[in-house]
Amino acid sequence: MQALRQALTLRSRAFSYGRRLFHANPRLLINVGDAIPDVEVQEGSPGNKLSIAKELPKGKALIIGVPGAFSPGCSAIHIPGYIKHAAKLPPTYVVTVNDSFVTKAWSENLPEATKSKIRFIADPSGKFTEAMGMDVDLSAFFGNKRSKRYVIIVEDGKVKEIFTEPDNTSVNVSKAENVLPSLG
Ligand code: BEZ
Repeated sequence: MQALRQALTLRSRAFSYGRRLFHANPRLLINVGDAIPDVEVQEGSPGNKLSIAKELPKGKALIIGVPGAFSPGCSAIHIPGYIKHAAKLPPTYVVTVNDSFVTKAWSENLPEATKSKIRFIADPSGKFTEAMGMDVDLSAFFGNKRSKRYVIIVEDGKVKEIFTEPDNTSVNVSKAENVLPSLG
């Protein structure tokens, strides 16, 4: 009887510990089948607000999250890889946790980016990135919280496939050559 009571107490403690953990960590990584969160972001200027979720078309789209505008990996490798294949991409949104002025200047600085239909979206508050569970502390590089490097294939407004860099910042699993075959 005492053993049973002890087991029940332990189970109850584990349960409430788990609940505490859950509440302490409410933002979960977005998953396959989830809807893209409806969070306000900006394009081109602070006044030009939009919600990617509300704009997503029927069919496929790409959301590309990057740690920072103008960072070497983003500017020299990651985004140029997508620009190179822009003609065959579905509607594509590059999201950066920078202000809209920096994000716009970055897009204008990337060869061929403004000619492509790729859209450069600013998430200056980081709220979209947080809602996706893609925020990460990159203080060592940028001095604050940023975005993991990821690509999401969206279909009919829902997550179809996720490519997140395991170390948050490299350009491997999320590079264009790796993602494009999954677009079909
Ligand atoms: C980059 O080169 O894109 C980068 C470097 C350090 C941290 C995050 C990104």
